Amino acid sequence: MPCPFHKQQPDPFGEPRRKDGVLVNNFRGTDVPMILKHDEVRRMAKDWKHFSSDAPFQVPIPNEEDVRTVRQLPLETDPPDQGDYRKIAEPFFNRAKDPAVIAQMEVLITGLIEGALGQDSVEIVRDFAIPLQSRGLANLLNTPQTEADIWIGWGMHIFREGDGTSKGKAMEEYANDLLDRSAAKPGHDFFSALTQAEFRGRPLTREEMLGYCSIVFAGGRDTIINSISGVIGHLAGTPADFEFLREDPKRILGASEEFFRVLSPTTHLARKCPRGANVHGVEVKPGDFVSLIFAAANYDETVFEVPETVKLDRRPNPHVAFGFGPHLCLGAAHARLVVRTLMKVLCERVARIETLAAVDKYEEETSYRRRLAYDRLEVRLTRRA
Ligand code: HEM
Repeated sequence: MPCPFHKQQPDPFGEPRRKDGVLVNNFRGTDVPMILKHDEVRRMAKDWKHFSSDAPFQVPIPNEEDVRTVRQLPLETDPPDQGDYRKIAEPFFNRAKDPAVIAQMEVLITGLIEGALGQDSVEIVRDFAIPLQSRGLANLLNTPQTEADIWIGWGMHIFREGDGTSKGKAMEEYANDLLDRSAAKPGHDFFSALTQAEFRGRPLTREEMLGYCSIVFAGGRDTIINSISGVIGHLAGTPADFEFLREDPKRILGASEEFFRVLSPTTHLARKCPRGANVHGVEVKPGDFVSLIFAAANYDETVFEVPETVKLDRRPNPHVAFGFGPHLCLGAAHARLVVRTLMKVLCERVARIETLAAVDKYEEETSYRRRLAYDRLEVRLTRRA
């Protein structure tokens, strides 16, 4: 099936990847060479000595200096610090494999689907994906749903309004207050655990705690929201794929990997070159940045046959949607749980998804324009007999 995500724009990185292996994009006045090939993205993601993440605010591109004041942990560090920071958060992220948390996700998604089945139409981004992301995260972090009620109000982007203005200060104020409340009356949740955690024998500083809060709120927000609307949009537009899953729900496992490959919700992330580098003839000065385009690597035709085609039974599928190497996404198990449970419940309860209205969402840059998912997706669900 041709992929509806790329109906207006087939892989935006295809030609430069084949020709040059690198695409130079100007981000707010600075040229950044972007690495396009699967083998090179993987090699550089592992080579932290030459391609470092020790760059506060700078791993996302454009950088986030104007919207936050804390280094995101463990993302913006290198090994060995990164490994020790990661260990502190890992027990909560591993909860995505706990049968009780898996059951909670099924209850949550069933409730949302049942709510949607009872209406003539539902707007998936605002009324389905955002509540699902916020409530699912609260369950993962073992945090009361009263906090998720607040997170739902944050909209799609945690740091920026639709017009680009910063709302990072408000997010950090909220996180500080949440940490104060957690320290005063500790529970068994992630935020209380941060207030009691130790890094190499000393308590975490408040700034470090805020660094974890920043990534759990930001890192898994639009990525999850776009995954949810992307999957629903595809199954609405390609009923044969929906039927393919319903015929044998065991196919959901492989299908989720194909959705993450095709959607690649994190387009790219940066690495700092402390010693400089030369990438495909492009000179990078010491201290300057390159970016690893996971979304381009996932369409590398030397690795993925007919990459622009969605093949829900694609095997093997060595995509890098969750990164590669030491920083491999901590939220990947949770993201997989969301998407797989969504497909499971849809297969069990829904016969048909009709698209009533859709507004596509794009990432626009000086040298590429990439379709992400939807700004708005209004659908009607029909109950399965
Ligand atoms: C479909 C959803 C998601 C995608 C596509 C995604 C993508 C990624 C990618 C590509 C990286 C690698 C970063 C690098 O190499 O610099 C990463 C790291 C990370 N992600 Fe995700 N992510 C998703 C969901 C989540 C969620 C839900 C959370 C948390 C609630 C999360 C938390 C993190 C953290 C903490 C790291 C840093 C890990 C480290 O530095 O050791 N992600 N993610």
